Amino acid sequence: MRHLMSPLDFSTDELERLFVLAGDIEKNMPKYAHVCDGKKLATCFYEPSTRTRLSFEAAMLNLGGNVLGFSEASSSSAAKGESVSDTIRVISCYADICAIRHPKEGAPMVAASRSGIPVINAGDGGHQHPTQTLTDLLTIRSLNGTLNNFTIGLCGDLKFGRTVHSLIRALLRYENINFVFISPDELKVPDYITNALDEKNASYKEVTKLEDVIGNLDILYMTRVQRERFFNEEDYIRLKDFYVLTKEKMALAKENMMVLHPLPRVNEISVEVDDDPRAMYFKQAQYGVYVRMALIMTLLGLAPDVLDKEA
Ligand code: NCD
Repeated sequence: MRHLMSPLDFSTDELERLFVLAGDIEKNMPKYAHVCDGKKLATCFYEPSTRTRLSFEAAMLNLGGNVLGFSEASSSSAAKGESVSDTIRVISCYADICAIRHPKEGAPMVAASRSGIPVINAGDGGHQHPTQTLTDLLTIRSLNGTLNNFTIGLCGDLKFGRTVHSLIRALLRYENINFVFISPDELKVPDYITNALDEKNASYKEVTKLEDVIGNLDILYMTRVQRERFFNEEDYIRLKDFYVLTKEKMALAKENMMVLHPLPRVNEISVEVDDDPRAMYFKQAQYGVYVRMALIMTLLGLAPDVLDKEA
């Protein structure tokens, strides 16, 4: 039985298989309408979510399966003091696969170690968010044509942003990627990430001004300042508007620079940018459904061998 805790749990070959499958799903959705007939996905969300939970549910419904779950800790037995380990043991009796989001780093790993069914980490605190990374990689691969050879700027809250941590780790396995980290001093990428970059001899730099580097980027990955992870509100208020991507800043960027954002956006991308053809964040959310369909099938052992068919 396999779980997904980190994007590194899949080899790059396995990821390739997943992306080819997701591409086929995009083109031939009805073909997959009954792959998960009779199967159930549990979504156990101890933290707020719109996209991740609903895209998981949409993915399972598109596959002919059913969904059950809870969307806040207060409506689960966690409110009575039940441990994640006990909850997952029980959920293993009700569902075939589970996606779990938790504010505590490592909680999904604890769940996986006790689970009788595949567990997917749908975000654990400020640590990892592997299915957002699968979404980001699929978006880049589909719109850019390759996962190699580009300069990506990651901008905003690089300290607490789990999507950033997972994406950097995942991109480190591809070739010729230059990273530009754009953040205020207080929100720089954590040491464990820069250590991983150093180990791989990756090319990266850290800057504070977006305007100074935007012209060199092929991809700009904007992020929200993660208010819920701050220790005090004053710091959040001081940092929340540090970056706002506007039309003026977009005018400095390459004609084909892709703007991504895991969403939700607060005000780090001005709504006027939404009409720019380089703004891909809503399309990115759509890719999240295809890749989660591919992931659910794969973890349940129901994925067709699309790579062999292509060959
Ligand atoms: C992200 C998350 O939950 O980490 N959202 C998402 O899943 N698309 C990003 C965020 O909340 O800022």
